Amino acid sequence: MGISSKVESIPFSSIRRMSELASELEKEGRHIIHLELGRPDFDTPSHIKEAAIKALMEGKVHYTSNYGITELRHAIADKIRTTLGVEYDPASEIIVTAGGAEAIYLAFASLLEPGDKVMVLTPCWPNYLHVPKLMNAGVIEVELRQEDDYQITKRRLEEFYDPAVKLIVINSPCNPTGGILETESLEALKEFALEHSLYVISDEVYEAFTYDTGKHLSILRFTEIKDRVILVNSFSKTYSMTGWRVGYVAAEAMVARAMVKVHQNLIACSTSFAQAGALAALTGPQECVQEMKKEYERRMNLVVQGLNEIPVVRCNRPKGAFYVFPSVDAFGMESSEVSEFLLREAGVVTVPGSGFGKGGEGHIRISYAASYSDLEIALEKIAIAFQKLR
Ligand SMILES: Cc1ncc(COP(=O)(O)O)c(C=O)c1O
Repeated sequence: MGISSKVESIPFSSIRRMSELASELEKEGRHIIHLELGRPDFDTPSHIKEAAIKALMEGKVHYTSNYGITELRHAIADKIRTTLGVEYDPASEIIVTAGGAEAIYLAFASLLEPGDKVMVLTPCWPNYLHVPKLMNAGVIEVELRQEDDYQITKRRLEEFYDPAVKLIVINSPCNPTGGILETESLEALKEFALEHSLYVISDEVYEAFTYDTGKHLSILRFTEIKDRVILVNSFSKTYSMTGWRVGYVAAEAMVARAMVKVHQNLIACSTSFAQAGALAALTGPQECVQEMKKEYERRMNLVVQGLNEIPVVRCNRPKGAFYVFPSVDAFGMESSEVSEFLLREAGVVTVPGSGFGKGGEGHIRISYAASYSDLEIALEKIAIAFQKLR
């Protein structure tokens, strides 16, 4: 057919597929509630928008340095120093990217040779499973189990080790489970990575949203592993800026230089005036983030309680991010059938767990980055629809 076999080997995003099925129903006039996207429903705070508009009006419309504007790289280095206690050189160790998605692509493209393998803790954001395939690299999925509170031990990591493994990907707080890696798990990962000379991609895009006693911890708290870590973060979730496409990566200078070469060949630089907005996000007031977090927690309480009131559905209380990942295996259907059933019967879009790797089947993902009233209506509709299956 002419399409690369590497591209053919990756599936169309299950999240986008559900959105497309939903838009077909919307064209027929059905009212649909969207709980499939990891897209905060809040507007971007106005001081961030104003900074971007100002930059645009001042003519900041040209390519920037491939690494990103200097002021933003300094602000990112300051932020990492104050929150994680780790120093990165803003001149050579930080790259502003088109979201966390590009940052992750750059890391894989810069480090992987054909035949290398990547260890991924699952259930996970699907990109970690797909992008390595574009580099002719293999993926080893290591399932984190709900009964272990999504934690990992060194022993379990060793069970999956293979000498072709070059890097391991971790994501805490986690999309889709809402799990958080605790100190012991991070220590196990650190020791495992150092012992086998692995790189670690640490995707921390949900760091701002942790609940109850859950606290975001980074593997960078173990400073001895710093040169092996590729820290990925983004403005998308924290500041409700998904459409702005600004994220960043921090890594040791040689790795960052390799990544910037890929970035030069991909997009050259993140959008100039969006970077000005991102600078205002980091240096401006942070109350907006706390307000969003409070509202997510209120919605999470509603959703967890509502789902657990439905007989046979079991929903863990997440510790972070803005997703719940209830188990729906008692219906004896595949998760894709459950999601399609909910779309048809309840007019609610969810994502089948099967798209998130090993351990995902038997679950559906519901994003509570949607309005409280939509969530209330959706829960009622889901409960009524599930009654038909019993
Ligand atoms: C775990 C995780 N990492 C990275 C991203 C990428 O987000 P963005 O490219 O908007 O920063 C997402 C988006 O959903 C995500 O869930």
